[in-house]
Amino acid sequence: MPEKIDYDSKIPNNVSLADDRRLQRALEGWQPKFMNWWAEMGPTLETHGVYLRTAVSVGRDGWAHFDHVNVPDYRWGIFLAERDPDRTIAFGEHKGEPAWQQVPGEYRADLQRLIVIQGDTEPASVEQQKLLGLSAPSLYDLRNLFQVNVEEGRHLWAMVYLLHAYFGREGREEAEGLLHRNSGSPDTPRILGAFNEETADWLAFYMFTYFTDRDGKYQLGTLKESAFDPLSRTCEFMLKEEAHHMFVGTTGVDRVVQRSAELIREHDTMDIAAHGGIPLDLIQKYINFHYTVSLDLFGSETSTNAANYYTAGLKGRWMEPRRKDDHQLTDDSAELRRPREDGTWETDELQKILLLNLDLRGEYIADCQTGVKRWNRILEDAGISFRLALPHPGFNRQVGINSGHHITPDGTIVDEQTWQDGQKHWLPSSEDFAFVRSLMHPVYERGKIASWVAPPRQGINGKPFDYEYVYL
Ligand SMILES: [Fe+2]
Ligand SMILES: [Fe+2]
Repeated sequence: MPEKIDYDSKIPNNVSLADDRRLQRALEGWQPKFMNWWAEMGPTLETHGVYLRTAVSVGRDGWAHFDHVNVPDYRWGIFLAERDPDRTIAFGEHKGEPAWQQVPGEYRADLQRLIVIQGDTEPASVEQQKLLGLSAPSLYDLRNLFQVNVEEGRHLWAMVYLLHAYFGREGREEAEGLLHRNSGSPDTPRILGAFNEETADWLAFYMFTYFTDRDGKYQLGTLKESAFDPLSRTCEFMLKEEAHHMFVGTTGVDRVVQRSAELIREHDTMDIAAHGGIPLDLIQKYINFHYTVSLDLFGSETSTNAANYYTAGLKGRWMEPRRKDDHQLTDDSAELRRPREDGTWETDELQKILLLNLDLRGEYIADCQTGVKRWNRILEDAGISFRLALPHPGFNRQVGINSGHHITPDGTIVDEQTWQDGQKHWLPSSEDFAFVRSLMHPVYERGKIASWVAPPRQGINGKPFDYEYVYL
């Protein structure tokens, strides 16, 4: 059974790596390069053990084991969800055929591209978060940062395994490229824009894990539907790990809002900056920024690439099997709202299959709303009338039909001057970033926490908040 993970090999895996000596050797050749990358580009803060979870099985229950681990000794490995031998393709022109165990020649280039783009985001986020350990608000948060980082490293392994196992020499070259490109590098940047922005402070980290990791969840969800079964199984297991990353984001923002609300009540003012808190309008600006750069990750609203991937069976829709249509979408249509030069909005009717990026983005936006609701409930419970909100999806966009237009958070199309004047109210300014940074002092004492964030309701794996999550 693939469920059991072999931890005796150099590379932990549940893909019977020992039976394929060539592949094993190739991956063992990549392993030290990964370790060099981790040492150079991974977390800067040195520790003497972090309370981490490690996958020990891919089944439903008890898949993870928790213990203090010396981070460079973390067992990064290759874990695929269990194979369903009867799995058939759920959509596109191959609908109903058995899922592919090998890559069909005609789709090789497209599949490789999809895997490389996904793979590129995983180490990128580790690079973006490199310095955060130096200013962690608590040992609990520090532990979560390391957990997210080691798992993004493992997600890189997941994609590198596919490249090595199924894409020959080109795949191996792409695997090297995943370590060669670096976030924010002027010459060899990461492929997608949002992954070249530094995650400069902990509020940004919570926003990133809420909004940008959630984009990852939706991308993985579409790849989980792929006809290429090894990709599908890899993504299914990655999604399991990814859930914790979004938990870090959701509860992280919860705790910032909670703390700000406490300070507002205590000092009877919205201007809590002087009291060591983050004002709510600044939290809103961070939401505006992280949400909109994450929307850009969904690509153009209309996409023939996405349509072709769908028809070929490479990439499905979110929850494809639950969709109540023919799963081929050749005759269906859907609506698209687009900004016009005269400052009004028009609605176009287009073939649904051309709007798959928009479809996925819609699912994502609905999911993002749940967090905003939670955060507003915290404000409501504190008797504060301020409300957080997601800006209009046309706001601050660099990709798709809204890029090149100036659209306010409430969806009004405005001229250049109005946009320039409004920006400081809508997006964090350099002064805002400097202020948030000024709050970021490390708190490494057990059970203590920084001024600007509330402690979590619960610790990790049943441990209390004041547990020694990290040995320093
Ligand atoms: Fe990931
Ligand atoms: Fe993640």
